[in-house]
Amino acid sequence: MRKKIVAGNWKMNKTADEAQALLSEIVNLIKEEASSATEVTVVLCPPSLYLTMAQQQVATVGNVSVGAQNCHEKASGAYTGEISAPMLKSIGIEYVILGHSERRQYFDESNTQLAEKVNSALENGLTPIFCCGESRDLRENGDYIGFVKDQITDSLFHLSPESFSKVVVAYEPIWAIGTGLTASSAQAQDMHFELRRHIAGQYGDEIAQETSILYGGSANAQNAAELFAQPDVDGGLIGGASLKAPDFITVVKAAQ
Ligand code: 13P
Repeated sequence: MRKKIVAGNWKMNKTADEAQALLSEIVNLIKEEASSATEVTVVLCPPSLYLTMAQQQVATVGNVSVGAQNCHEKASGAYTGEISAPMLKSIGIEYVILGHSERRQYFDESNTQLAEKVNSALENGLTPIFCCGESRDLRENGDYIGFVKDQITDSLFHLSPESFSKVVVAYEPIWAIGTGLTASSAQAQDMHFELRRHIAGQYGDEIAQETSILYGGSANAQNAAELFAQPDVDGGLIGGASLKAPDFITVVKAAQ
């Protein structure tokens, strides 16, 4: 049985006080309402500055982990402002989001560079949450399924089967991120099914069936249950709705 995961990507939001408050609200609500959702892994991905704070807050809750939103591909060196996978490992971080469309768009991250980031994350025992997804233009006018498959091929298919099986994939159509335009559950299912088949073509059915594929893009308390009910949707990568504790908990419960 593949893992069900709900990850909250806070992006560049919250001051320290606000982060502390949101974390304790999430932790309390999980304890009160969602502790039975033990088969769902919750991953909180606050800005790097608050990773340690988040770890301290979630220490008493069993099924909650902390993840970073990015890491550099090199282990160390003269890269001002960057954070490396060994650094994340050294403070006990377990997950790292890689290849988010905002990083691809605003920081020019390429599939090749992302392959290096994936390598560094895996070498340091981190679980990459590898993001892929097409633009609105491609969805309307192009081979959007081929495009997303290529993102996976170019950044992940150099991995050994053993390494690949540690990766979590997140399908996040760019047109759905922060727009309120969620992919329909059928659109999400269609793409997830195609991606799983693509993975099976490279690594075989067993690994493909074990790969968690999350959906992201305006997933929220209202639509999560329907999205997560799709057979190939194994949870979500949640932006805006992860910043409101009650909404986020509703999404977590929807993955049960
Ligand atoms: P929204 O849920 O705000 O659309 O963001 C999705 C996302 O980008 C998560 O990584």
